Amino acid sequence: MMEKIYLDHASAMPIDPRVLKFAEQYLKGRYGNPSSLHSAGLEAKRTIEDARKKVAELINAEKETCIIFTGGATESNNLAIKGTALRNMGKGKKVTASAIEHISVLNPMKELQKSGFELSLIPVDSTGVDRCRRFRKTQGDADQRYHCNLNNVRKQRNRDNRTY
Ligand SMILES: Cc1ncc(COP(=O)(O)O)c(C=O)c1O
Repeated sequence: MMEKIYLDHASAMPIDPRVLKFAEQYLKGRYGNPSSLHSAGLEAKRTIEDARKKVAELINAEKETCIIFTGGATESNNLAIKGTALRNMGKGKKVTASAIEHISVLNPMKELQKSGFELSLIPVDSTGVDRCRRFRKTQGDADQRYHCNLNNVRKQRNRDNRTY
């Protein structure tokens, strides 16, 4: 039988066994609402804040508060796109994205358009090169904001020499 090779780890991948082992204890028994004041809630809060600190260190974030945990990519994309656009609307209301973005990017962009933003969708050729060229042309316009998913992130080594 032909061996299958899964090439879509950018969209779904198996959980690292170390992460599963750590998370399992909270999913099974040590659960608590981090906004609650009882001991289970306080423990959950401590664990989340510890994770936030570790992620911030890992990516050299400016502040721990820059790290926002979400339930998935759709929630993250909505938060990033609408949050950035609305926060900066005083500077301009032009937003740009590539025409082939995931629906979780295109939908919040279209919602911004409905509420008065000017949306440009950059078409692509079969190589994706055109997208970069067209984007470069728009960079002179301070109003423009761009969103593009980084699906093929280069592997990097951190201080502990671990690969991510
Ligand atoms: C590139 C990309 N962005 C966003 C999503 C949405 O992810 P989620 O299901 O975590 O909301 C997916 C899911 O397939 C995806 O492949």
